[in-house]
Amino acid sequence: MDITFIMRYFWMITLTFSMFEANVQCQTNDRRAFPDGFLLGAASASYQVEGAWNVNGKGESHWDFITHNQSERISDRSNGDIACDSFNKYKEDVQWIKSIGLDHYRFSLSWTRILPSGFNDTTNPNGIRYYRDLLEELKVINVTTVVTLYHRDHPQALENLGGWRNERMVQWFEDYAKVVFDNLGHLVDIFIPINEINALCADELNDTYKPRGNGLDDMGEYACIHNGLKAHAKVWHLYDKNYRATQGGMIGFVSSSRGWVPSEGVTEESIDRYFQFRCGIVMHPIFIGDYPEILKTRIGNISNLENLPESRLPEFTDEWKNIIKGATDFLGLNHYTSRLPIFDTSEKLGVPTSDSGIIEAVDPNWSTASSQWLTIVPEGIGNVLRKIRDEYDNPALYIFENGFSDTGETEDYARIKYHYDYASEVLKATVRDGCNVKAYTVWSLLDNFEWYYGYTQRFGILKVDFDSPNRTRSEKLSTQWLREVIRTRTLIEPPAPSGTRSGSCEFIHEETEKLVEKL
Ligand code: NOJ
Repeated sequence: MDITFIMRYFWMITLTFSMFEANVQCQTNDRRAFPDGFLLGAASASYQVEGAWNVNGKGESHWDFITHNQSERISDRSNGDIACDSFNKYKEDVQWIKSIGLDHYRFSLSWTRILPSGFNDTTNPNGIRYYRDLLEELKVINVTTVVTLYHRDHPQALENLGGWRNERMVQWFEDYAKVVFDNLGHLVDIFIPINEINALCADELNDTYKPRGNGLDDMGEYACIHNGLKAHAKVWHLYDKNYRATQGGMIGFVSSSRGWVPSEGVTEESIDRYFQFRCGIVMHPIFIGDYPEILKTRIGNISNLENLPESRLPEFTDEWKNIIKGATDFLGLNHYTSRLPIFDTSEKLGVPTSDSGIIEAVDPNWSTASSQWLTIVPEGIGNVLRKIRDEYDNPALYIFENGFSDTGETEDYARIKYHYDYASEVLKATVRDGCNVKAYTVWSLLDNFEWYYGYTQRFGILKVDFDSPNRTRSEKLSTQWLREVIRTRTLIEPPAPSGTRSGSCEFIHEETEKLVEKL
């Protein structure tokens, strides 16, 4: 080996080391440490990433049906037929997960890949094999596996029978869960039966596509939530009774949530009303055993004014209350945005204007992500966490989604800032205020199919080239930032956009790369 070669490498290693030290020193000022055992990961969902919609025996899902038959509902008329092609590229995805160093990876199973007809008459061995392979790959790299049984893509055959408005979904879902626990449960650390039933029912059953105006859309939404809660609870008990002891995993409820911040007209009462209608509607039955009183009273009275024979909000029998109450090992939370909840003053005339009577206002000074609904309000997440701590006796809380959309920029400074600001609030709520938060999960691992917005909004910390048949993945700046956050177990100050960077807190491996180039 010639001496210049040795010198060159000695020089490179020494420099890398001193940069590393300088960096660590620089970062200690900006750092916020995550508590021991805190999980940092990323999430995805089957329809949004897998593709292979009709391959290897998979049946048609509700989302296959929507995109193929009602494409006018999707902004860019796209679909998830190929999406990120994760069905074929799962091994590469796992290598990315390893390279970023994620503690956990949350993904969902496609119901119709496992049960093509929707019912448990026939199980598709190819579907089981696919998920087993993926889970085994994740086990090899020692990643905590978080599996959502159902993330919006239920079988179209069951949608034709009313979907979540039909109470028989409860049994069909339990049948499906049993097949999953039997075949894959030994490889899963954390199960989530249903992803955010509150948001799902509002989005799917209350959207502008359906005729509105007679109050009955909301009736469908409440029936959907009611059956979803029952289905969740049945599956929690199934796991608890028959699988927990041998498989040793956890299983818990995941809710969507929206925050708030102080402002004119935002009072303790208006916050509480807003919280109960958005979150209490599902969290209250799970932790307390029934819907919040304010929902029962208001929806009951309004239904009465509408001359309906009964409340649009269904009632739980005592038996169901007992089944649902406590049916969770933790509370999972998806969180992105906030509003200013204020009482609708026109109600002073005595006529209710909506079930909640709350106007969810937006401060015009808030900036938004590329999703219009996604106003950026980091303090909002802390307020939700503290409210949950106080309402439900400080449950173990897993943030299972938090994310920012843009149009696919590689230099995604705004995404880094979003995650930095939101995670800072999470740490404050955890370390300073004693909220029992155990995990923070970035939505999403990959740019993917964003439901009604198709590929026009990108949430990934990895870029996907949807123009290439290979669906090539590549790093964004946020990939590198997250990798360093996980490696150091601390929040690292976001870099300033290019051209304005101070140079004192740049990412270590970028520096190393530049160094190698120079050499
Ligand atoms: C929550 C949903 O679970 C996920 O599927 C969706 O992509 C994100 N929100 C962003 O809208």
